[in-house]
Amino acid sequence: MDYFNTIVGQSPALDSLIRSARLVASTDVTVLLKGETGTGKEILATAIQKQSSRANKAFITLNCAALPESLIESELFGHRKGAFTGAISNTQGLLQAADGGTLFLDEINSLPVAIQAKLLRFLESGECLAVGDVSSYKVDVRVIAATNADINQQIDAGEFRRDLYYRLNVVPLELPALSQRTEDIEHLIKHFLALFADTYSIVAPKFSKSALKILKAYSWPGNIRELRNLCERLSILLAGRTIEPENLPLEFIRASDTPKATGFTLPETGLQLDALEANLIHQALNRTQGNRSKSARLLGLSRDTLIYRMQKHGVASH
Ligand SMILES: Nc1ncnc2c1ncn2[C@@H]1O[C@H](COP(=O)(O)OP(=O)(O)OP(=O)(O)O)[C@@H](O)[C@H]1O
Ligand SMILES: [Mg+2]
Repeated sequence: MDYFNTIVGQSPALDSLIRSARLVASTDVTVLLKGETGTGKEILATAIQKQSSRANKAFITLNCAALPESLIESELFGHRKGAFTGAISNTQGLLQAADGGTLFLDEINSLPVAIQAKLLRFLESGECLAVGDVSSYKVDVRVIAATNADINQQIDAGEFRRDLYYRLNVVPLELPALSQRTEDIEHLIKHFLALFADTYSIVAPKFSKSALKILKAYSWPGNIRELRNLCERLSILLAGRTIEPENLPLEFIRASDTPKATGFTLPETGLQLDALEANLIHQALNRTQGNRSKSARLLGLSRDTLIYRMQKHGVASH
C-alpha cells in the first residue's frame, strides 16, 4: 500500500510537498512539518513513517504541549529511581521505547527551553540522559517534528533555541493552508462524503453548485479538519439530499456576504429587498434583450427560478 495515497488532493502545492515527502521517507533525516492547525501534519507524519524502512518498528507520538514542563523531560528521556518525589523505580523514556523506530514530536514549538538543549544533544549524537542519571545511553530513533506556530518568532522572543531549530529544520515540509489550494476542496469533499456514507451506512448528500462556490470562497481557519467536520455533520443531517447555501453554518454565509465576495455592501440606511430584486431582474432582462436564460445566468439563478421570481414580482416578459 502507498500511504501517501491517503493524503487527498491534486493541487500543485500538495503535489510538490508529497514529492519531497517521498524522498525523505526513505532516509533517516529529521523532518520538520510546518502548517496551520488541521492542514494534515499528523497524517503526513504517519505516511512518512509507514513508507520508511522503519515502518514495522515502533512509532511513538509525544505531544509536547500536552505535558507540564516537570514531566516532559522524564517522559522523553526516562528517570532513575529516586530522581524526584514519586520516582519509585527506574523508568525508560519514549526515546528508548522508540529505539530502532520513529518518534513524532508534535507541537515541538511548545517544548520547554530547558529540555530543548537535551533534545539537541540527542539529535546530534544519539545520546540521552535519564533524569537523575549520570551516565548517558544511546538510541537510534528517527525524529519527525511538527509545529503550527512560526518558530522564527519564538526564537526572537527567546522561547526557542536557534541551534535546535536549525537541526530540526534540515528538511522542512510546509503544508499549505486549505485556502491556498481551493482546487483540492472538491476532491476532499468527495473523499469525506464517501467516508461518512460508509461509516454511517447512509446515502451521501451532494453539494449544490452555489454551496460549493461558498465553500471555495471561505477562509477555512480550521483547514481540512474543519472541512472534514462539516462533511460529517452534513452527511448525518442531510443524508441523500442536496446541500444548498442555506444549509451551511452561519459563519460560511456571513463570510460570503462580505463586499469582497458579492461586490455589494448593505447600505447603512438599509434597503427594500423585494423592490431591489424586481429592479435587478428588470436590469438583467433589459441588458439581455429579454433573454431569460442569459438573464438567469447574470443573476446566478436557474431559468425556472427566474421565471418564478418574475411572476412573483409581476415583471412582464419583454
Ligand atoms: N490531504 C488530506 N486528505 C485526507 N484527509 C486529510 C488530509 N489532510 C488532513 N486530513 C484529515 O484532517 C484532519 C486533520 O489533520 P491532521 O490531524 O493531520 O492535522 P494537523 O496539521 O496535525 O492539525 P493540528 O495542528 O491541529 O494538530 C484529520 O482527520 C486528517 O485525517
Ligand atoms: Mg496534529
